[in-house]
Amino acid sequence: MTIAAPHAAPQSSAAGGARRTRVAVAGATGYAGQELVRLLARHPAVTLTAAMSSGATSTPRPLPALARIWDEAVTPLDIDRLVSSADIVFLALPEAASAELAPTLVGRGARVIDLSGAFRIRDAADRQRWYPATTALPAGTVYGLPEHDAAAIRNARLVSCPGCYPTAALLALEPLEAAGLIDGAVIVDAKSGISGAGKAPSDRTHFSENHGSVAAYAVFSHRHNAEIEQELKRDVTFVPHLVPLDRGILETIYVTLAPGTTEAQVAHALEEAYRDAAFVRLTGAALPEIKHVAHTNFCDIGWKVDEGRRRLALIVVLDNLVKGAAGQAVQNLNIVLGLDERTGLL
Ligand SMILES: NC(=O)c1ccc[n+]([C@@H]2O[C@H](COP(=O)([O-])OP(=O)(O)OC[C@H]3O[C@@H](n4cnc5c(N)ncnc54)[C@H](OP(=O)(O)O)[C@@H]3O)[C@@H](O)[C@H]2O)c1
Repeated sequence: MTIAAPHAAPQSSAAGGARRTRVAVAGATGYAGQELVRLLARHPAVTLTAAMSSGATSTPRPLPALARIWDEAVTPLDIDRLVSSADIVFLALPEAASAELAPTLVGRGARVIDLSGAFRIRDAADRQRWYPATTALPAGTVYGLPEHDAAAIRNARLVSCPGCYPTAALLALEPLEAAGLIDGAVIVDAKSGISGAGKAPSDRTHFSENHGSVAAYAVFSHRHNAEIEQELKRDVTFVPHLVPLDRGILETIYVTLAPGTTEAQVAHALEEAYRDAAFVRLTGAALPEIKHVAHTNFCDIGWKVDEGRRRLALIVVLDNLVKGAAGQAVQNLNIVLGLDERTGLL
């Protein structure tokens, strides 16, 4: 959905003889940032010109996990270098850092693909509540769920990538909402692996706390609840849980169907929506699992319908670091550049 006025397409630049777009990553030492570096380093249409850390360390450092994939050093954050070395800058930063950096980058002519939540919420009062560091949305900001917002993403100055939980929920629910098949509030019961919380350990994410346990958190106080409701325009009860996996999200979504809705109508709405979608796989009654999508950009959606009691259960899985973060950001890059959405992702 477009938030503000669109702008012109990016310029490509010559690199190594080929016409490639120059890209850079801020937050490259984080979980999402490292996935971005991995994807962008082998992307055939871009040159990764810089990968930056927080600046808390003054010494350039390598990324051991990415040896032979990206052998350049990760350097401290340098805004001037981001602007001069890249046409498109990916921000994989804490939202307060994105809130500060992105408007400067856009103002200086860069296009930005932001993985944080800083620019997702359009209503100013809601944004103040959930993302107080964000003072305004730069002109040309677009909420970018590729399967639903491609036309707006193409001309965006700042693509605000959806959160990992909202990506799964919205991919499953928006086609059903558009078809008028939902009646009343929706319940999203979500489970996430620990990497969803980023690399800094906490009491909740520490191995010895999480291993062998499952815990609900942020009940009625998670920012992604507001994001899902904004996009769906419907009340949603969202309860996230941490599960002892390194990566992956599974959402069980409970829907009361509009009177008279059939199983065939549910299937038809989803099949129509994703007939040409490269990264949404509909599994129907063969319910998907996190292992089916780990390390991929796929979101798999399965479902069961109890027509007599108007009940629908959707099971949605994705990898929070790929379709929920870095892969989705590269999918958005491909849309911005007018490429096949699968470029560099399959
Ligand atoms: N993890 C997920 O599954 C996921 C999914 C979707 C969206 N996101 C969003 O993506 C963003 C990154 O998440 P993450 O999980 O990758 O976080 P992370 O693992 O904690 O990494 C954060 C990155 O930002 C850098 N950084 C920290 N503070 C900074 C500052 N003040 N200025 C500049 N750089 C700073 C860190 O550099 P140092 O190494 O120097 O500290 C690191 O590279 C977050 O906004 C998150 O909400 C994450």
